[in-house]
Amino acid sequence: MERQLPKHIGIIMDGNGRWAKKRGLKRWDGHKEGANVFRKICSYACDIGIKSITFYAFSTENWRRPPEEVAAIMELFREYLGEAEDRENENIRKGMQMHFIGRRDDMPEDIVSLMETAEENSKDASRIKVNIAINYGGRLEIVEAVRKIAQKVKDGEIQPEDITEDDISANLYTAGQDDPDLIIRPSGEYRLSNFLLWQSAYSEFWFSDILWPDFTTDDLDRAIDDYNNRSRRFGGV
Ligand code: IPE
Ligand code: IPE
Ligand code: MG
Repeated sequence: MERQLPKHIGIIMDGNGRWAKKRGLKRWDGHKEGANVFRKICSYACDIGIKSITFYAFSTENWRRPPEEVAAIMELFREYLGEAEDRENENIRKGMQMHFIGRRDDMPEDIVSLMETAEENSKDASRIKVNIAINYGGRLEIVEAVRKIAQKVKDGEIQPEDITEDDISANLYTAGQDDPDLIIRPSGEYRLSNFLLWQSAYSEFWFSDILWPDFTTDDLDRAIDDYNNRSRRFGGV
């Protein structure tokens, strides 16, 4: 039987710090390597025909880290987004449509502006949707959706009893996108850490001890193969 590709994959890119520590390197060396692996996996997902992929890059809780580490991660975003500023960027030519999910208000202005440029430059690309979750928190995303809906109630546009699940979905950062079929978390942690809480209601999970900088295209294939052996019932029989 031919393998079914998940339409949408979510990846929690975790384990950079431990990867660096194991090698006697600084944590940010791990983030740098992690960023390279992100580029590789993103490009491979596009090549094999995945339609949509979401990478968790920085959570709303990650601001708790030492300022030097946060600054180093922001620098890596600048580097990556600088590449995407070029309309002739290889990723855009490959067909990657970029989206950034998360709260932009608390992000450095120059990064927000680079995100907007990357989204604008890649908006006609149609092979794969690439979401990058930066300053993203699933709970905050739901809170922000609820605020928007509450405003509509206040303005008399809708009644509380008319609010549906679709209304919540339509007010999330991922509005209009399919929920993730498969969520991958390497690094030996078995938790979501506030990633796509609403959207993952019926996702399949794939955990592994591999640290993100060691993650390879073979690992992605393995996760997809395992996904193919799952039986998704969505509450039915
Ligand atoms: C993931 O790697 C990257 C971010 C959260 C930004 P970590 O930095 O969390 O790596 P570990 O978990 O400490 O190994
Ligand atoms: C989750 O990793 C966030 C990202 C990968 C961006 P963390 O390292 O922040 O998660 P916890 O703290 O182990 O739950
Ligand atoms: Mg971690």
